[in-house]
Amino acid sequence: MKIAISGKGGVGKTTIMGLLARQTQKSGREVLVIDADPSPHMAQALGVENIGDITPIAEMKKMLTDRSGKVEGSPFYNINPKVDDLPAQYMLEKDGVKLMVLGAIQTAEGGCACPENTVLKRLLTRLLLNPTQTVLLDMEAGVEHLGRGTIAGVDGLLIVVIPAMSSVRTGLKIRKLARESGIPRIYFVGNLVADEEDELFLADGLGERPLVCFPDSNRIRKAERAGMPITEADEAMNGVAAQLLAGLTELMQK
Ligand SMILES: Nc1ncnc2c1ncn2[C@@H]1O[C@H](COP(=O)(O)OP(=O)(O)O)[C@@H](O)[C@H]1O
Ligand SMILES: [Mg+2]
Repeated sequence: MKIAISGKGGVGKTTIMGLLARQTQKSGREVLVIDADPSPHMAQALGVENIGDITPIAEMKKMLTDRSGKVEGSPFYNINPKVDDLPAQYMLEKDGVKLMVLGAIQTAEGGCACPENTVLKRLLTRLLLNPTQTVLLDMEAGVEHLGRGTIAGVDGLLIVVIPAMSSVRTGLKIRKLARESGIPRIYFVGNLVADEEDELFLADGLGERPLVCFPDSNRIRKAERAGMPITEADEAMNGVAAQLLAGLTELMQK
C-alpha cells in the first residue's frame, strides 16, 4: 500500500509517519518512507544517520522519464521500478526501514518545486509493490501536493488533526482537495488528544471520529529534543501506531 500524510504545519505528521513506519516494519512488511518535505526531518525521527550521503529523488528524473517508443528491449525504456530495483544511492536504511528524500528546494523568490514534484508523481504512480511492501509519504504542511495532483498515485491519505479549531478547518479543507484529486481513502488521525472532551471536539468538528488518537507524549518531546529517534521513545505511542496500522490494513482491503 502507498499512504501519504497531510495536515497543518507542526501537528505531528513526521512523528506519526515515523511511528507508523517502525510498526509496519515490525509487522514483517518492507517499508519505504519518502520524505517530501523541503526541509526533511524524517531521518532524525527514524534515527537514520549519514543523511547527507543520499541522492535526492529529484535526481532520479532520467530513470523515471518515460521513453516509450524508443528501441525495444532496453531496460531503461518504459520502466516501472520495483522497490527492490531502486538504486541504493537514493536510499538509506535503518533497522529495515528504507528512506528516500525528495530534495525539493524552494527558491528564494518562492518559486515552486515543480520538477521535483513531477518526479515524485512519476515515482508514486509507477512504483510497483508486492503485497508485503508499504510506501509511506511524509509531506510538508500545505496542500500544495494535492493541488498539483502529485499524490494522486497513493491508495490512502491520513490527515493529522489536533484538537484546535484551526487544525480542524485545515483538515476539512485538505479532505475536500484530496477528494477532488481522486484519492480513494481519506482518514483523519488525531494527535495531542488528552481526553474525551478533545476526542468529542474532533468528532464534532470533522463529522467523523479519527481512525486513532495519539496522546501528548512527554517522552516523544524529550527524545526529539535530545536528537534521539522517536520510534523507541514511548511504548504508548507505539501502541497507538500499531492500532493505526491494523486499522489501515483492514480498510485497505475494502
Ligand atoms: N503526540 C506528541 N506528543 C508530544 N510531542 C509531539 C507529538 N507529536 C508531535 N510532537 C512534537 O511536535 C513537533 C512537531 O511535530 P512534527 O511531527 O515534526 O510535525 P509536522 O511534521 O506535522 O510538522 C515535534 O517537535 C514533535 O516532537
Ligand atoms: Mg514534518
